[in-house]
Amino acid sequence: MTSNSPVPAPRRDQTGPVAISSARTAKLFEPVQAGGLFLKNRIVMPPMTRTMSPAGVPGAANAAYYRRRAKGGVGLIITEGTWVPDEAGANEADVPRMYGADALDGWAEVVREVHAEGVPIFSQLWHVGQMKQPVIEGLYAPKPANSVVPRRIGPSGLFGGIGSKTTLDGEPATQADLDAVVEAFGKAAANAQRTGFDGVEIHAAHGYLFDQFFWDGTNRRADDYGGPLRNRIRLAVDTVAEIRRLTGPNFPISLRISQWKIQDFGAKIFKTPGELEAFVGPLAEVGVDIFHCSQRRFWECEFGSDRNLAAWTRTLSGKPTISVGSVAMTGEHVDTLMGQPSDVSGIDRLLVMMERGDFDLIAIGRGLLVDPAWPRKVKAGRLDQLLAWNRDVLKTLS
Ligand SMILES: Cc1cc2nc3c(=O)[nH]c(=O)nc-3n(C[C@H](O)[C@H](O)[C@H](O)COP(=O)(O)O)c2cc1C
Repeated sequence: MTSNSPVPAPRRDQTGPVAISSARTAKLFEPVQAGGLFLKNRIVMPPMTRTMSPAGVPGAANAAYYRRRAKGGVGLIITEGTWVPDEAGANEADVPRMYGADALDGWAEVVREVHAEGVPIFSQLWHVGQMKQPVIEGLYAPKPANSVVPRRIGPSGLFGGIGSKTTLDGEPATQADLDAVVEAFGKAAANAQRTGFDGVEIHAAHGYLFDQFFWDGTNRRADDYGGPLRNRIRLAVDTVAEIRRLTGPNFPISLRISQWKIQDFGAKIFKTPGELEAFVGPLAEVGVDIFHCSQRRFWECEFGSDRNLAAWTRTLSGKPTISVGSVAMTGEHVDTLMGQPSDVSGIDRLLVMMERGDFDLIAIGRGLLVDPAWPRKVKAGRLDQLLAWNRDVLKTLS
C-alpha cells in the first residue's frame, strides 16, 4: 500500500463482524521498536481505571486480570492510572497507588505475571488536578464510603473551560504545589522502575492536571506557567526532566496527550501543525520517548488533512506514537465512551493508516476489556468469535 492510499470512510452503518483474513491484518502483528523496547506486535492495552484495588493496593485479582490480556496477545500493557505520592492528585481510594510498600508489592506481582507471558508493562502515573469525580456517569463504581476529598489544585482554580461550564472550583496551584507535583511524579516513576516496570506513562490528557495547564480554557495564569504554549507545557517539561533524572537515560517515558477533554469533547489545544510542533519538540527533547495520542475515534483527523493526531505527532516529534479510539466499536456505539456492542468496523481504516506508517502502535481499550483474547483472535482471522461489547464487564475484573 502506498503513502497516497485513500483512507476509507468509517463504516458507521455496520452491524456485524467483518470477515478479514489474517493476511490482511498482518501489519498489526509486525514487531516494532518503540522507546528502546522491542515489542512483538503493534497492539497496546491502554490505561483503564478500574477502581478495584482496595485502599490503593492491587492484589491477585488485578495481577490475573492483566496476565489474561498479556496471554491474549497484546504487545504492550499500560496500566490503569496510578496515584503519585501527592494527596492533591488523588480522588478515589480504590485507584491503585504507585507508592507505599503494600501497593508496590502488589504491583511487583502484577509485573511478574505479565512478564511471565513475555509482555512488557508500563505504569500510567496520574494526577487529577482540578477534576472532580465521578465525571463520567458509570465509569467508576460509586464508593462514597471510600471517597477521598483532597484539596483540589489546578492552574487557575477553573474546572471547565471556554464553551463549557466554567466554575471556580479550587485553588490556583502555588509554586510549592507545582514543585510537589514534579517531585511526586519523579518518585512514582522511580518506584515503578524499582518494581520492575518497563516504562512509565504520564497521564497528560483528557482534562486532568497537565492538560489543565496545556489548555487555555482552564489555564489563565499570568506567570511562567500561563500564556504562551512554551509556558503552559512548563510543568510537563519539568516533570519529564525529573523522571529522566531519577530513572536514567534508558527508561522509556510515554506521554499521553489529547485534544479532547472530559469537560469539552470539541476542545483543541493545537489549532495548527506549528502549535503541535512547538508542544512536542521541547517534550521530546527533555525525554519523552513515545507519544500516546488519545482520540475518542482514531479516524478523526487534524488540521484539515487525512492524518490523525498520532500521525501528525509522529512526523513533528520524530518519536513513535500510539493511536487509540473506538477500534473495536461501531455504528452509534462509537458515540459514547461507554457504548454498547462491538465489532471490527474500525479495522479497515486502521490497516490503511498503519500501512501508510501514520503511527506505530494502536491501543484497544474496551475491546480488550470484553475480550482479552482480541489480539489472538484477530491474528487468526477469527473475527466472528470476538465478544461483543457489554458494559457489564466493568463491574468485575474479569
Ligand atoms: C473503563 C475505562 C477507564 C479508563 N481509564 C483511563 C485511565 O485511567 N487513563 C487514561 O488515560 N485513559 C483511560 N480511559 C480511556 C482509554 O484508555 C481509551 O483511550 C478509551 O477507552 C478509548 O479506547 P477504546 O475505544 O478502544 O475503548 C479509560 C477508558 C475506559 C473505558
